[in-house]
Amino acid sequence: MKDNDTYNLSWDEWDELQRPAPETTDFDAVVEAAISRRGFLTGVIAYGSGAAVMGAGLLSGTSAEAQTVSRFGFTPISAQTDSTVHVPEGYTWQAVAKWGEPLFSDANELSQDTGIDLASSDRVFGENTDGMEMFVVGGRQVIAVNHEYVNTRVNLPHTGGETTSADDALILQNMQGVTVMEVAEGPDGWGIVVDSDLNRRITQNTPMTITGPAAGHDLLKTAADPAGTTVLGTLNNCGAGKTPWGTYLTCEENFNGYFGSTDANVAAPEHYGRYGIGSEGRYGYEKFDARFDTAQNPNEPHRFGYIVEIDPTDPTSTPIKHSALGRFKHENAAAVIAPDGRVVVYMGDDERGEFMYKYISNGIYTPGGPTSELLDDGKLFVAVFNDDLTGVWVELTPEATGMSAAEIAIFTRVAASRVGATTMDRPEWVAVNPVAAEGYCALTNNSRRGVRANAGGDWTPAKGPNPRNENNYGQIVRWRPAGDDHAAADFTWDLYVMAGNPTVHDDAYAGSDNINEGNLFNSPDGMMFDSTGLLWIQTDGDDSNADGFAGMGNNQMLAGDPVTGQIERFMTGPNGSEVTGLTWSADKRTMFVGIQHPAAPFPDGEGMLPRSSIVAVKRADNALVG
Ligand code: FEO
Ligand code: CA
Ligand code: CA
Repeated sequence: MKDNDTYNLSWDEWDELQRPAPETTDFDAVVEAAISRRGFLTGVIAYGSGAAVMGAGLLSGTSAEAQTVSRFGFTPISAQTDSTVHVPEGYTWQAVAKWGEPLFSDANELSQDTGIDLASSDRVFGENTDGMEMFVVGGRQVIAVNHEYVNTRVNLPHTGGETTSADDALILQNMQGVTVMEVAEGPDGWGIVVDSDLNRRITQNTPMTITGPAAGHDLLKTAADPAGTTVLGTLNNCGAGKTPWGTYLTCEENFNGYFGSTDANVAAPEHYGRYGIGSEGRYGYEKFDARFDTAQNPNEPHRFGYIVEIDPTDPTSTPIKHSALGRFKHENAAAVIAPDGRVVVYMGDDERGEFMYKYISNGIYTPGGPTSELLDDGKLFVAVFNDDLTGVWVELTPEATGMSAAEIAIFTRVAASRVGATTMDRPEWVAVNPVAAEGYCALTNNSRRGVRANAGGDWTPAKGPNPRNENNYGQIVRWRPAGDDHAAADFTWDLYVMAGNPTVHDDAYAGSDNINEGNLFNSPDGMMFDSTGLLWIQTDGDDSNADGFAGMGNNQMLAGDPVTGQIERFMTGPNGSEVTGLTWSADKRTMFVGIQHPAAPFPDGEGMLPRSSIVAVKRADNALVG
């Protein structure tokens, strides 16, 4: 994963190869970084919710007893380096859905030699399972799940991973997007309900409507869509979210990597650089599909990078891209209702030195009331973190940015830079605690912290919630909104955890006090709360188990107690995989966990193609798991 084989690069590594961040040498910034490192050592870390820095009232919704009694219903497991899944004693796991598994009985099974045939490629469970949510539809259990990207050597085994034709490109396009599928538990465990009338595949070619300030703007118009309101497909669906009214939110992350140019002489349009849109797409689509050739369709990339709403109860519904929530490398969307009924959506932009955002609807959500405007008519804010553990959400308005509402929706990163947003260490998932007014964001890592500016030229000093230069371990920032109101502008913050390795380092790279030899991990990424207020943390990092990462093993899922700061390892994935995506059965007796891009022949065994899979984890005694 860390070699120069571009097939196996993470999107972060691939982006860095295509578009190195601008060099910056700013003496003032270096001084600032040094000051803040002292700040880090004197108490920015305050992992317990009751920490004094967060002020009074922090424990609302949590019991005093919870501070002294461990809430973990499992015996933590050790780090692992093998090619399978491990869960604690007394728990079991099984594969529920694997890449290429038919959703409909007219789809052919996977061939080990040729992969999935074209006709079946949008009738099967897609590749690289990621964010997911469970919906109960008329008593039936329906999972909506993302298929983030592809592993071309696995998906096109007959070409060695090259996209050699329009058909190859279409197979790849069909394996990405979203699956909506009914699942059920039978005598042999959980599985897909094949041919359920709720099953649906949404791909990179499914028609969808774009709404909000960007809809119909000249920058969104193309020859195929002169109105600028109907887009084909969704790209690089990473994390997820769920609205209070029971729809699915899928988040377009590294959309830039799908576009290329067949004419090197065409100048790049404005802000292509900020979004990393280059001359060569990762999968070569531009050679076979004009829509992805920016020489022919320069506005097509402006139609991606949004949050898309899908109604899992209606397979004929048209997905909606909500431009009011901004255009950037969306990780996930954590929606919560403010005390006055407005809808608040927290979001991260996963790139080195990019920002954290919050959307607030202008309208009020009432159960059963109208919802169609709630994600189209609202205000967009970006986070500014102060070194004194306070912060403020700054609204992106035409007055503050010098941009129109449509331009703010399309070039959101540019708008946020103009108001002085805080550059972050790659914001991944945001999670909101259901039993206390606080939000968490996984800042996965940032090898360029303190070394280079972000793609917009904003300097990235080590300070505030991003206190370490060349941060290869990551941290989780937590904020508490003023007045326990997620719609408030002001907040206080601390770091719930700084990942690190105390067996290798004795400085800030050892991590915070709640890191110990028994729970080592790096690069927190997926993050969800269960209904009891336990924070589940998934990782997507260096699984070499060597040098600075010694003792961490494969990527994993841990559980964190927000009150005590205790973190324990619950599960490990197969070598090479990322553990990402988590949801629960309706009765909370099963956890569904995503295993993405295993390197080993997981889960079918030696000699078989590796298959990204959702696994079901249960207690052997069938007790509650969240
Ligand atoms: Fe798709 Fe930022 O992880
Ligand atoms: Ca992720
Ligand atoms: Ca990731």
